[in-house]
Amino acid sequence: MQDKTYALIPPNPFNAGSPIDPNDFVGRVQELETFKQRLRQTKEGSLASMAVAGGYGIGKTSFLHKCRSIAEENNALSIYFSLNEMDDLNRETLSKMLVERLQERVREEIILQRISAKVLDAVRKIRIKISPSEEGPSVELGLDHSINSIHFPNLHSALSVAWKALRDHKKAIVFFIDEARILEKHRADLILYLRAVLEQLQIDRVPVMIVPGGKLTISDPSGSGFSPLVRTFPPAVLENFTLEESKAFIRKKLTKVKISISDDVLKQVYSITEGHPFVLSAYMATAYSKLKPGEGELRKEHFEATDIEFVKRVLSPFFSRFYDQVSKNSRSILTEMAKRNGEIDLSELCEIMGRKSNELSPYLAKLTQDGAILRIDRGRYKLFHKLLTQYVKQVGGL
Ligand SMILES: Nc1ncnc2c1ncn2[C@@H]1O[C@H](COP(=O)(O)OP(=O)(O)O)[C@@H](O)[C@H]1O
Ligand SMILES: [Mg+2]
Repeated sequence: MQDKTYALIPPNPFNAGSPIDPNDFVGRVQELETFKQRLRQTKEGSLASMAVAGGYGIGKTSFLHKCRSIAEENNALSIYFSLNEMDDLNRETLSKMLVERLQERVREEIILQRISAKVLDAVRKIRIKISPSEEGPSVELGLDHSINSIHFPNLHSALSVAWKALRDHKKAIVFFIDEARILEKHRADLILYLRAVLEQLQIDRVPVMIVPGGKLTISDPSGSGFSPLVRTFPPAVLENFTLEESKAFIRKKLTKVKISISDDVLKQVYSITEGHPFVLSAYMATAYSKLKPGEGELRKEHFEATDIEFVKRVLSPFFSRFYDQVSKNSRSILTEMAKRNGEIDLSELCEIMGRKSNELSPYLAKLTQDGAILRIDRGRYKLFHKLLTQYVKQVGGL
């Protein structure tokens, strides 16, 4: 088509580095339904939180943002923040963080004139001061200690008071805590603490929901699924997109820039990327960058040009965390798996590496937790993505 509008190529609509805009969000129908249902229950005063789990690039942050926009539509006060690089967190600092983020959010809502300025008066006085008897010496964080502030000995009483100020304006308070794996440190101390806080709030039917997201292991690995944590924070475990979700994702993006793509090519893209959201976005971004002015369709040639550099160049910053940045033993395991098309039995691995299974298990557990490998069967493991197999072969010179 020699239309003038194609003389310039519209900006690349694919950006693997950032979470999707909630308006462009695709799929995850079941998980979103679960969130909506839990939100409804929260609004009615029930204890109904949840968690979002899954590996790197699977779409956790995008999902939290989407849920956040749903919470807003439902007139909940929604608060999103990330614990990225917070390695020094305890009950008090976590509680303070939740309260401060809530206060910030209330300020924003007032500026947007969604709630009355009176609310701020009540909410901004709230300070947390957990007594030393409950948790070591408490550190003052240089907060505003005006005489007006009211100190609360725990998070649930602070949140109850915040709710009293908000209840005429909002239906619930929802916290989205991203990169929340740190909450599971020290035998899940902080996540257990949040559960206790929610249970206290529940007594007075204060509608607070907490949604931690991250590479969480809340789901009981033994599969019993009845631990109290699973009940309080039932995890929505995000998986790769299905073929239909992948197609919807690509079509949504390409329609906006008026670029077409055939069904055959869509299927091909799915089979290469396996519908992994990050890999898919990166692959599409690279292919899109091969479009020449005047072209109105992404064709096989664009993807062929992409394949040459994709794994080594584009995906290496993503894959290096699974391979280059792990211990030598873990790397050897990955290498042996890559040699065997990405899959191996534990017994086979022991033989090749001349190690006992109890020596290798910790490495396998770590690799599994970090998302590099998946346990597909009793004693059988596979690399999480076939392009990782290709990457390990290339980088390892196999
Ligand atoms: N439901 C979705 N719809 C559209 N794009 C998505 C969706 N989920 C993830 N993506 C895309 O996949 C990539 C990784 O998503 P992100 O939310 O950052 O993953 P995570 O937080 O799990 O690492 C981003 O480019 C994002 O735009
Ligand atoms: Mg994320």
